[in-house]
Amino acid sequence: AILLASAAVAQGYPDRQVTMVVPFAAGGPTDTVARLVAEKMSADLGQQIIVENVGGAGGTLGAAQVAEAEADGYTILLHHIGMATSESLYRELPYNALEAFAPVGLVTEVPMTVVARADFEPADMASFVTYVKENADTITMANAGIGAASHLCGMLLMQALEAPIVTVPYRGTGPAMTELVGGQIDIMCDQTTNTTEQIQGGTIKAYAVTTPERLDLFPDLPTAAEAGLPGIEVSVWHGIYAPAGTPQEAVDRLSTSLQTVLADPELSTRLAELGTAPSPVEDGTPEALSAKLSAEIERWRPIIEEAGVYAD
Ligand code: MLT
Repeated sequence: AILLASAAVAQGYPDRQVTMVVPFAAGGPTDTVARLVAEKMSADLGQQIIVENVGGAGGTLGAAQVAEAEADGYTILLHHIGMATSESLYRELPYNALEAFAPVGLVTEVPMTVVARADFEPADMASFVTYVKENADTITMANAGIGAASHLCGMLLMQALEAPIVTVPYRGTGPAMTELVGGQIDIMCDQTTNTTEQIQGGTIKAYAVTTPERLDLFPDLPTAAEAGLPGIEVSVWHGIYAPAGTPQEAVDRLSTSLQTVLADPELSTRLAELGTAPSPVEDGTPEALSAKLSAEIERWRPIIEEAGVYAD
């Protein structure tokens, strides 16, 4: 009887598969991070983590679905900086980011790149700036909806250029990338997890990175600041959340598993190939994500209010 009891305790959470909601379409940067992490966490937890893509409204539809899900530890969310910016971008959200979720931990922080279809006319970032200022009303820019990282970066780009560019929302920058490669859309600001292989393959053109320093992966790509656009600094941090009220045992087990995965050299190698790196193991905790989310909501609120006219 004691053996059975201890086996039952050892079994504990999770005793069946877990759904990880990705609030953007399959094939995009958030999906790429989620599937890499879900696969590693599945191995660690001994239960499948199944990724479910719930796109729309810049990630807020997927986030709302998890906010309202059963708080039993079997539905979790992988979301990024949009969890913070949406608090300022939307007048009415069906959830409060600081109250509706139980943070599990930080996952990775991804640089962004300003990219265009391969035959976009400007040769470099300086001529990109001139060209876009002069042709703003005929240029199209893709994003993944208001609240997406691509939306945030695009908003900062329009503010820096003082040019309201026609923006086209997609359910994720996976589908947007298909149209950029196809030449149906002109420009986009997207994460290296989605743009690296296209840049390396020459199927799109890259102009700048949105990080304070150049990326080792693309030493010839200037930072936006070097190219005369200092206001565009965005690094897309990602976190895993459970619905508020999820049992502490489940949150702790998920966080422990995430920390194990953050230390996995294979994850580091794969993310490095995509221009990024796992968060430090010590940031794979509820406290670290909670602190990051609170700080980022406050940091972006005045910036979004300042950029106002370019936010819609
Ligand atoms: C974003 O712009 O927030 C992401 O690119 C969305 C996605 O992962 O598709």
